[in-house]
Amino acid sequence: MITPIILAGGSGTRLWPVSRKAYPKQFTSLAGDQTLYQDTLKRLSHLDAPVVITGTDYRFIAAEQAAEAEQDLSSIMIEPEGRNTAPAILTAALMHEDTPDAILLIMPSDHIVADEDGFRAALEEGRIAAEESRIVTFGSVPTRPETGYGYLELVAPAGACKAALPLISFVEKPDADRAADMIATGKYLWNGGMFMARVDTLIEAFDTHAPHLMLPCRAALAGAQTDLDFTRLAAGPWAKLEDISVDYAIMEKHDDLVVVPMDCGWSDMGSWDSVWRESPQDADGNVMQGNATAMDCTDTLLRSDNDGVELVGLGLEGITAIATGDAILVARTDDSQKVKEVLATLKAKE
Ligand code: GDD
Ligand code: MG
Repeated sequence: MITPIILAGGSGTRLWPVSRKAYPKQFTSLAGDQTLYQDTLKRLSHLDAPVVITGTDYRFIAAEQAAEAEQDLSSIMIEPEGRNTAPAILTAALMHEDTPDAILLIMPSDHIVADEDGFRAALEEGRIAAEESRIVTFGSVPTRPETGYGYLELVAPAGACKAALPLISFVEKPDADRAADMIATGKYLWNGGMFMARVDTLIEAFDTHAPHLMLPCRAALAGAQTDLDFTRLAAGPWAKLEDISVDYAIMEKHDDLVVVPMDCGWSDMGSWDSVWRESPQDADGNVMQGNATAMDCTDTLLRSDNDGVELVGLGLEGITAIATGDAILVARTDDSQKVKEVLATLKAKE
């Protein structure tokens, strides 16, 4: 069987002001009725009960939203502080060290998938390659020079192939020019941010490429304490960990990666341009969410989460305007990746 490890500790800064440090995007409903995290749990309900790994501030939200969606969890691991995905994934792998041949599916909690059957079929292909001690990535055909994703280089275009293919390289978050060059070759796929591997394969990869994470993760796990229904990792060793994503720590360096091509309407709801692209649009390409109206607008995203604020766009093109209880963002949708800089600027003003 496959055990999902759900990564639910990110703070989703590019989706400010809806995604907040106290209530990040994975726990909000950016597209649909359920939250992205609840959709993730449901999408994996045919697998073993998942382990959720998240930040201390999110533990109750993670437990409540799982219960509300009627999804059983195997456990909720709490990180004393966010250290990005590499330490979270290594700790989850070490937790399963007693079953080295178990297959783990590392799963972000902020994605949407339109075709669940296609997604499940891709997981099954992944399992076959993971059992052969490969680290499996999942790739989609790129449609724009997105700078928020990793890119997977194939030997030749994937065509209609659905089985795992070897990778030449993994390039995390290239700049727009490099992304455009890569797409033009036809040999790159977007990295879906999900990874599948045997427990021992993952631990070995960390041992090879990021050995400095091993001791603090082991110590944080050894010193973990039960707190209500949660497992709280030990803060002392955790504080010593480098803040680094698995993409930079492992995937860019590992030379035995494979990719399962997937065509299942996958998207990372990482920034406002993806919310605009993935949500139902009117005939002029406008998306209106909550208390919002577009007049003479094209390709515009208007969202008001504040019942007391009527948000109206007039004569706009390619604009995102978001109103919440305490903040309003107005930006060119093309600048969506820069929204995280807003937070740094606001912090500097404090
Ligand atoms: N537990 C935990 N702790 N989870 C975290 C942490 C952390 O410190 N930081 C991030 N996460 C979670 C996020 O909540 C999200 O579900 C997942 O890990 C991925 O983190 P993101 O921050 O959303 O990564 P990304 O979108 O910039 O990039 C990754 O995903 C892309 C596709 O969605 C990379 O893998 C890219 O290569 C990939 O294309
Ligand atoms: Mg993401």
